[in-house]
Amino acid sequence: MKTIKPFEKKIWLSSPTMHGKEIEFVTDAIDKNWVTTAGENINDVEDTITKIVGCKYAVGLSCGTSALHLCMKLAGVKPEDLVFTSDTTFDATVNPITYEGGVPVFIDTEYDTWNMDPVALEKAFEIYPQVKVVVVANLYGTPAKLDEIVAICKKHGAILIEDAAESLGATYKCLQS
Ligand SMILES: Cc1ncc(COP(=O)(O)O)c(C=O)c1O
Repeated sequence: MKTIKPFEKKIWLSSPTMHGKEIEFVTDAIDKNWVTTAGENINDVEDTITKIVGCKYAVGLSCGTSALHLCMKLAGVKPEDLVFTSDTTFDATVNPITYEGGVPVFIDTEYDTWNMDPVALEKAFEIYPQVKVVVVANLYGTPAKLDEIVAICKKHGAILIEDAAESLGATYKCLQS
């Protein structure tokens, strides 16, 4: 049997760190006894996000899982509904589907982006044409092939939810030469 040798040096995907003013804001919130879901810092974050992302509204929630759970509710996922989702991702992409009683159907990952394969997605719609919700993760700051995925979702009348927890600030087709 072939033995797999572990890497000698561990390469961390990410580790919790605080930079710049973050520690000041955290300390300030604790000092003021105001660790909660409302307040000036939340308003500022929401406002800043709308500017960075270029959208009208932003809502600050406790974590990415909550945001994705809210998306499932807004998309109307009901018990027994099949939902297409990325097969290579953090479990928070998938868990909220099951919180609403939905059944995840995993779509293969492709080589170019390490994200959902549009070819596999189209194939999945041939097998399960009833699916109305697709959840795609954009991993490691790299967007999936969104033009293709959006076109497929439109063709099949499905709502597309993007999990950008690892890609806030990433750009799509914006490379300058
Ligand atoms: C792809 C992906 N989706 C969602 C999340 C949200 O996770 P959390 O609920 O821990 O904020 C993460 C966090 O690492 C993630 O990597």
